[in-house]
Amino acid sequence: PYVLTEKQFLPYHEVTYPMEERGLQFGDGIYEVTRIYQGMYFLLEEHIDRLYRSAASIRLSVPFDKDVLMEKLEQLREMNDVKEDAILYLQVTRGSFPRNHAFPTENRSNLYAYIREMPRKINEIEQGVRAILTKDVRWEYCYIKSLNLLPNVLAKQEAVERRAFEAIFHRDGIITEGSSSNIFLVKDGNIYTHPATERILNGIVRMKVKQFCSALGIPFVEEAFSINDIAEAEEMFLTSTTSSIIPIIQVEDQIIGDGKPGELTRKLQAAYEKAAG
Ligand code: PDD
Repeated sequence: PYVLTEKQFLPYHEVTYPMEERGLQFGDGIYEVTRIYQGMYFLLEEHIDRLYRSAASIRLSVPFDKDVLMEKLEQLREMNDVKEDAILYLQVTRGSFPRNHAFPTENRSNLYAYIREMPRKINEIEQGVRAILTKDVRWEYCYIKSLNLLPNVLAKQEAVERRAFEAIFHRDGIITEGSSSNIFLVKDGNIYTHPATERILNGIVRMKVKQFCSALGIPFVEEAFSINDIAEAEEMFLTSTTSSIIPIIQVEDQIIGDGKPGELTRKLQAAYEKAAG
């Protein structure tokens, strides 16, 4: 497989970095994950726009302008001859320099992008998943898709060890988002989700779900809900690029609704499948 870097396309195993790389030492960078269905990018432009927003928010420059980057990513896809379901991973860091917290004086960002096969999570999409609750100990700028993922890693590991698919973060009882997903709750036929403040990543699939709701006439309420609301939930689901839309049928010991994927969740899944082609 080939990798796009800030300089050139390189074979996968030829991409190496010095020890003093700011992404490695400080997590000083940002990233994106984009879906590929049947060899075609899905919502690529939305992801690239968010990449530039994340970069701007940490005063990081992306090596290519948007048009050039989009073109090179298309080239990458062709070079790798992708035909299946996959993901594109893309990251930009502040480069390689002698270790020092402050920004380097020179502007030499590192970028790499590669494609990895990843099937749809068919079982989870069909049957739904269990989730656990965990304290949101992250910083206040979760809207930046930064490389600092230690709290997310620890939360996901806790979920895995407790045989759950996702860990749902709460701040003082208020549900923010999942360790790598956005979280939604249905009550009285309304879909609730945390507003797109600095406390969550405004997911690309989340934004898509908002559009689907508007087209389908489903009330979409960007109002946070709490742990206490879970007992009264008719449905719950999560969204992310890798997961698409997955029903949540249990949170800790609480069964959601009748323990099966709900009707609105199914409608949104159908809308997603249609959009994804
Ligand atoms: N997760 N919140 C967090 C903390 C995330 O890491 C992600 C993405 C999301 C959903 O965003 P989007 O819909 O743009 O993928 C929300 C990675 C990329 C994933 O698991 O797919």
